Amino acid sequence: MNSAIIKGTGHYTPEHILTNADLEKIVDTSDEWIQTRTGIQERRVLNGHNDIGLSGMATNAARDAIDDAGLEPKDIEAVIMATVTPDYRLPATATLVQHNLGIGRVALMDIVAACTGFLYGLSVSRAFITCGMYKNVLVIGGEHLTSITNYEDRTTCVLFGDGAGAAVVSRGEPSDNGRGILATYLAGDGQYKDLLHIPLGGSKNPFTNDNAHLPGRHVHMDGREIFKLAVKEMADAAEHVLEQAGCKPSDIDMVIPHQANHRIIEALRRRLNVPEDRVYSNIQSYGNTSSASVPIALDEARRTGVVKEGSLVLSTAFGGGLVWGSALYRL
Ligand code: UT7
Repeated sequence: MNSAIIKGTGHYTPEHILTNADLEKIVDTSDEWIQTRTGIQERRVLNGHNDIGLSGMATNAARDAIDDAGLEPKDIEAVIMATVTPDYRLPATATLVQHNLGIGRVALMDIVAACTGFLYGLSVSRAFITCGMYKNVLVIGGEHLTSITNYEDRTTCVLFGDGAGAAVVSRGEPSDNGRGILATYLAGDGQYKDLLHIPLGGSKNPFTNDNAHLPGRHVHMDGREIFKLAVKEMADAAEHVLEQAGCKPSDIDMVIPHQANHRIIEALRRRLNVPEDRVYSNIQSYGNTSSASVPIALDEARRTGVVKEGSLVLSTAFGGGLVWGSALYRL
């Protein structure tokens, strides 16, 4: 069987910064509450730079990932875009990225798996590569979350930010000895669909003149319930991939989890029993960017030398659907 290795990564976040102090002026909240309960200090927002949209952020992240992989756009044979905030309901954002970058007429698809979207994409790319169908697959996680955020709801608006991250997943060579995506685990349960959702704007409850201004057009979340489930299922998903690959938590060089809340990350760390310096977190700078959070963190960790070729990395994520999953990979 072919191995599938992460050959290059990239990320893009908008320049505009929304701080906790800015949010104090918009809703009844405080820097102290936000930092204590979530770990977030600031987040990046497309506000004022909407012209590039999600597809623009995704394109920038993807360009860097392709370059980092030492490839050119023409080498990419499939684009998998994970997002819940596409530029349009039709067409898929993957088609916009393909066109922007001058990628050929290849397989283009979007995946809707919320915060777990990038890990779903990674798993699909691995399947494409290991079965011999493609050699180089571009996987992107990107969100324009502030476009679905209700800035009158303090329980959610302090959490979300915008951004995109990308990875090129390629067929490994014999010389890539031991590198590659070693195991993935994907799961979900639709019984929890109302815990994190956008009630309006789909084909079941389409926008009308009467409802288009209602809060239902924004994301709704039962944070407390999600918190409990996230800790349990992210840890469970992590154990699944460790078991599949025959590894122990002590083998992991770095856990790069979904960045939803520093308390969730800390609870996960304790469950896995890994030391603090083996868990990567950048939630203070970006907040929760849903499907973008893992690839942004992975790219940052690679570029700053926190992880390097040969590092064993575990990523695990959880989000709306509810869907969750994990991946274990040697860089
Ligand atoms: O990305 C994947 C999915 N999302 C997540 O994984 C998020 C999971 N959930 C969380 O991260 C946390 O539940 C939150 C950060 C959303 C909330 O933290 P919490 O500790 O669970 O707070 P809570 O919802 O239990 O609320 C505690 C109090 C409430 O006041 P009362 O009822 O105790 O008087 C809230 O009204 O905090 C209040 N509150 C706030 N106060 C100041 C909620 N949001 C705010 C706020 N500023 N922004």
